[in-house]
Amino acid sequence: MAHARERMIEDADREADRVLSAKVGHGDARKILDEVFDERTLKALHKLMNEGLLRVLDFPISTGKEATVFCGLSPRMEEYAVKVYRVGNATFNSIRRYIQDDPRFRRIGRDKRSVIYAWAMKEFKNLERMHAAGVAVPRPMRAYENILVMEYLHVGANHDPAPPLRQARAVDNEAVFARVREEGRRIVRGARLVHGDLSEYNIVMAGAGPFIIDVGQSLVLDHPQAKEYLERDAANVAKFFARRGVEGADAGALFDHWTRGVSFTKKGEGGEEE
Ligand SMILES: Nc1ncnc2c1ncn2[C@@H]1O[C@H](COP(=O)(O)OP(=O)(O)OP(=O)(O)O)[C@@H](O)[C@H]1O
Ligand SMILES: [Mg+2]
Repeated sequence: MAHARERMIEDADREADRVLSAKVGHGDARKILDEVFDERTLKALHKLMNEGLLRVLDFPISTGKEATVFCGLSPRMEEYAVKVYRVGNATFNSIRRYIQDDPRFRRIGRDKRSVIYAWAMKEFKNLERMHAAGVAVPRPMRAYENILVMEYLHVGANHDPAPPLRQARAVDNEAVFARVREEGRRIVRGARLVHGDLSEYNIVMAGAGPFIIDVGQSLVLDHPQAKEYLERDAANVAKFFARRGVEGADAGALFDHWTRGVSFTKKGEGGEEE
């Protein structure tokens, strides 16, 4: 066991050397490397390594539209999820729109790099706020420039990355729906946020059950679009579970459960300033 673990770490070291040297690599690895690791990002990563938070980046878990998520290891061999936002070709306009309408991010710079950094910080703050409210989200560790470090969600003895709900096998749909229903309520009533992109893509099935991820776009309750996005979240979740045969997976009922006692109309009642 210990040997296997050491070998894994040596492999990870080799892979990280390959990635961080930035001039080697080929095929898919090379492509990820070029898109994700511009010079500033490499420097930011080095800073986190010098701080002792990370030792190596292990394998990439997922490459999405805006970010690549890696499994990283700390010097003490703890695993972390490391989300690296792409500065180069991210879908920038949608990000800017979300940020500009959020009262917490009024004073950020207008250039692309500052907007992406603010976005990573926003995801971090949203995670903190949800985590503090007891929502099942990965525990946030650090946001620095375009890099977000958080708890690594995993399944099984091999610590494979927790799969998105839509791909997870042997799911007890009734039980998971009940959990997601309560997580949604905690997000709204506890954290006083709206997820804004809640679906079977942004719920992952870890060993401990469903976790909510990808909260960069999450909104405070007095955001002008909060209600609309929450209705969409409820519709997405209800549709998914209804297709899987869960009785009572109804968008309206879900929305009502999440918002009982919450007002979106009068400022200061539903939302709050920071
Ligand atoms: N904390 C975590 N632990 C383990 N895996 C994670 C974690 N966070 C994200 N992932 C993996 O990375 C994937 C993408 O994460 P996320 O949804 O946050 O990024 P994204 O930029 O929105 O990507 P996409 O555009 O594909 O949705 C997730 O589906 C999941 O597989
Ligand atoms: Mg996502």
